Amino acid sequence: MTTDTATWIEKDKKQLHPVYHPKTHVNPLVIERGEGVWLYTTDGRKILDGMAGLWNVNAGYGREELAQAAYDQMKELAFTSNFSGMTNLPSIQLADKLAGFAYEGLNTTFFTSGGSEANDSAFKTARYYWKRKGKPGKYKIISRKGSYHGITLASTFATGLEKYHTMFGPALEGFVHIPAPNPYRYEGQLKDGETVGRAAARELEEAILREGADSIAAFIAEPVMGVGGVIVPPDDYFPLVRQICDKYEILFIADEVITGFGRTGEWFALKHWNVKPDILSFAKAITSGYAQLGGIQISDEIRETMESAADTEAYMHGYTYSGHAMACAVGLKNLEIMEKENYPQRARELGKRLLDGLKSLLEFPFVGEVRGMGLVCGVEIVSDKAADPALAMKIFKAAEERGLRSRPLGNVLAFSPPLSIHEDEVDEIVRRLGAAMDSVR
Ligand SMILES: Cc1ncc(COP(=O)(O)O)c(C=O)c1O
Repeated sequence: MTTDTATWIEKDKKQLHPVYHPKTHVNPLVIERGEGVWLYTTDGRKILDGMAGLWNVNAGYGREELAQAAYDQMKELAFTSNFSGMTNLPSIQLADKLAGFAYEGLNTTFFTSGGSEANDSAFKTARYYWKRKGKPGKYKIISRKGSYHGITLASTFATGLEKYHTMFGPALEGFVHIPAPNPYRYEGQLKDGETVGRAAARELEEAILREGADSIAAFIAEPVMGVGGVIVPPDDYFPLVRQICDKYEILFIADEVITGFGRTGEWFALKHWNVKPDILSFAKAITSGYAQLGGIQISDEIRETMESAADTEAYMHGYTYSGHAMACAVGLKNLEIMEKENYPQRARELGKRLLDGLKSLLEFPFVGEVRGMGLVCGVEIVSDKAADPALAMKIFKAAEERGLRSRPLGNVLAFSPPLSIHEDEVDEIVRRLGAAMDSVR
């Protein structure tokens, strides 16, 4: 390590990092530059970013066009309030571009600065909607065990990973968790002849009946679970979920914070199953991480219920940075790039190459399963079929020493590289991970 880097690391102690523990935040990589899929550290290392930052830098690092879009907009107007009778051109243009872009009938956007705020907004909007519909008792949110929905208080307790709750309880009332449709490790009970998709959907119906449909506002799900270990659901799951939500008048919130904007091989992932949500949460890749932006899109039906609100029923919700002019300008330019470079198709083609390559690693006895959809993949590390997070961590570190960044999620190593990645770089991910695995066996 260079003296410079040691100094940076010492000074870095003055900030608190996300999901912080003093034992794990030691000798962080100090990144000073990025280009394409590559990150460069202050001590001269070159690292292939197999995670596109945090699943978000879809267009890759160092894009001049995005820097220019931010610069131009900042000079013109960096920010103005979107509250109280004001608006701005980039937010108008981006909302217009997004109308119907993800799903037909979702034509209205509310902007946030990220995914947690998007999900909080989704929950509040669902509650608002039911109050306007004269059903104020519908306030609970059902989510899945293993899900990740963010870090604000409400999205923390919608999240189905207990380690995010432990130090922040007591749990908020009104958040109910059900088993996820994880084909490799299904936690619920399978009835005779039942598929995992059907069983997990049945759990939703049973939870609705147990809690009472008249107490439930919405069900939230990531189409492909990310932080919970890259879980790709069976094909029968989401069509059944949609039917159940309709049957019991429950809003369906799709958390597409990771899966949105091409990552899985469709612009938005529920398209794989021909299913439409009532509310869509998005963030991350809307700007490829070049600016802080997220939001929700709501169905025309929800929008219409707002139109006739009484004076006392205003949607008293909004952030200083809702519709941030510079962030929206970057989002617009990024969408232009993603369309021009056809990211859903790239994700399908290069994702197949990555998945096939990673599957070749099944020859290692500790690789239990390799799964993925488009350019998001998970490699499950096991010892005699039991999850082995310690070994996954060892492989993660060995890969990092070989200049490959993945993300250890319990016993699963996740890969979600920029969608601008090239074939030889996909092969490099597989080669470096293989070498890391070789070194620990
Ligand atoms: C599915 C999902 N939802 C919500 C979030 C929260 O987004 P943010 O970190 O931008 O608040 C994340 C972050 O990783 C996510 O993966």
